[in-house]
Parts: sequence; C-alpha cells; structure tokens
Amino acid sequence: MQRVVFLCSGNTCRSPLAAAIAKSLRPDAEVLSAGLNANDGSPAAEAARQVARERGLDLESHRARSAVATLFDGAAVGLAMTRRLADEARRRFPDAADRIFSLGTYAGAPAEDVDDPIGQSEGAYRMVASQVSDLLRAAQTRSGWLFLQSVGMGSDHAGLILRREVLAALRQEGIPTKDYGTDSAERCDYPDFAKLVGDAVATGEVGAGILVCGTGIGMSIAANKILGVRAAVVAEGLGAELSRRHNDANVLCLGARLTGTELAREAALRFLRTSFDGGRHADRVAKISAMDVQGS
Ligand code: RB5
Repeated sequence: MQRVVFLCSGNTCRSPLAAAIAKSLRPDAEVLSAGLNANDGSPAAEAARQVARERGLDLESHRARSAVATLFDGAAVGLAMTRRLADEARRRFPDAADRIFSLGTYAGAPAEDVDDPIGQSEGAYRMVASQVSDLLRAAQTRSGWLFLQSVGMGSDHAGLILRREVLAALRQEGIPTKDYGTDSAERCDYPDFAKLVGDAVATGEVGAGILVCGTGIGMSIAANKILGVRAAVVAEGLGAELSRRHNDANVLCLGARLTGTELAREAALRFLRTSFDGGRHADRVAKISAMDVQGS
C-alpha cells in the first residue's frame, strides 16, 4: 500500500484537510499529515473541522504531529502546501528529497501555493479545501495510473549517467522517484539493480520502475524473472507508450548506449503518463500473468 504524507507548518488545518480529501480520492492509500513546526497533540482548527464536516469528512480525532524522517521512509510521495515548505522538507529529509514536492508542482501548476488561512474567516478555510481538492484532481488526471505512487530508478555503471539525467527530468516534472543506485561509475552487475527495482515494483513499494543499462536488454531479461514484473525494453517514445497501452508494462528499460537523453526523457514521460488500454489487451496480459504462476 502506498503512503502519502501531506505537509504544512502547524498540521492543524491545510495538511489534515488535504489528507482527508486525498483519502476520499484514494481510500486504499495510507494518507498521513504532519507539520514542519507542529505543536504535537493539537486538534485541528475549528474552522478546518467545520469545512471538513461540510464535505462529509471528519477531522475530530486529528491530532497534530511533527514531521520526522521515519514518516518518509516508506512514503511514495510527500506533498507540501507551498514551495517554501517543500524546500524546507527536502532540506530536512534529504533521503526523501526526490519524493517531496509542493502540491502545486505535483499537480502541474508549479507556481501555485496553498497559503495558510490561519486567523482568517471560515470562508478562507473553505477556499483552501476547494483549492486542495482541485489540485489533487489535477494531479490525479496528470499522473494517471501512478497517482500517489513513486517510480523506482536503477542502473548499472553503463546506465549511470542516463539514469541521473532521466531522474532529473522526472524531478522537474514533479514525478516522485526512489533511487536504487548504482551510485558509482565502477563496474557492477545489472541483475542486482534489476532485482532491487523489480522487487520494489512487485511488492508495491513503487508503482513503476525505470532501469538503465548499456542496451536495456540485460535489465529487461533480469527484471522479467520477477513475478508480477512486465519489463519492456524500448528506445523511444512511441514504443514506451505502446508498452503501456497494450502490454501494461510496469518497468521501462532503456539502453544508454543506444538512446540519447532527449529520447530517453520522452520515453520515460510517455511511459509514466500512459494508461493501459485494457479490453482485448487485458486477456493477453492475463495470459502472461498466468505464466508467472504456472511457470509454463
Ligand atoms: C555493461 O557493459 C553492459 O553489458 C550492460 O550495461 C548491459 O548492456 C546489459 O544488457
């Protein structure tokens, strides 16, 4: 199950409201909230509770908590209410920095902040709730099959530079990533990283994976040994898109010696933003999954 952490300053109005709204959109997710300057144990502000009630949500038992590093250990994404808060959270929790964004950035509206309504009328809290709700819906449309999930990244030495370039491109787009290495240019074995990322996909720790080696081929052969993984080696955007639409691929494999940075970036974005077509393709993918179980 994916964990999502909403962040504001005091954890008494914006982030608990955002968490409650997100939970109503994704009841299966573990949705938490925390404050970068919280007074632990404080209840939600009365106006926030009232606005929650009006939306059929309940903040009565909410108690403020301070953001700590362990909250982000298993988190797919951390969503801060403003860019400034996102910067502060990334500074405090560097291990999770690639998974922390402002909600606006995550929704594709990078200049938009959800400002603190403290001390203002109930109407201001109502505006916060509708702004958060609009941003979350925009994020849901934008991220599609990977809404509130992160992308696992891995490579061997041959794929190191391209992996870092793709990772930076995803960060710029507000796509949360979890990096599984390698971290040096020293020679290493691609199956080790295919296993790390493939296992993360198969267990749901990440929603999808991107693996890079010299050709992408070794990574795809290795990752496809893991039950539940459907890894596709592609060299450009259309192949990446079709691997999602027709094959419901959940791991993209790129070849750093075959595909340049721009094509790899386009392939990654099309892969991550395209949903499975289902229909006749679903029966075929079901046959592939049956092979996972039967080994035949
Ligand atoms: C490493 O030289 C290379 O063999 C590896 O990155 C990959 O291309 C394997 O498929």
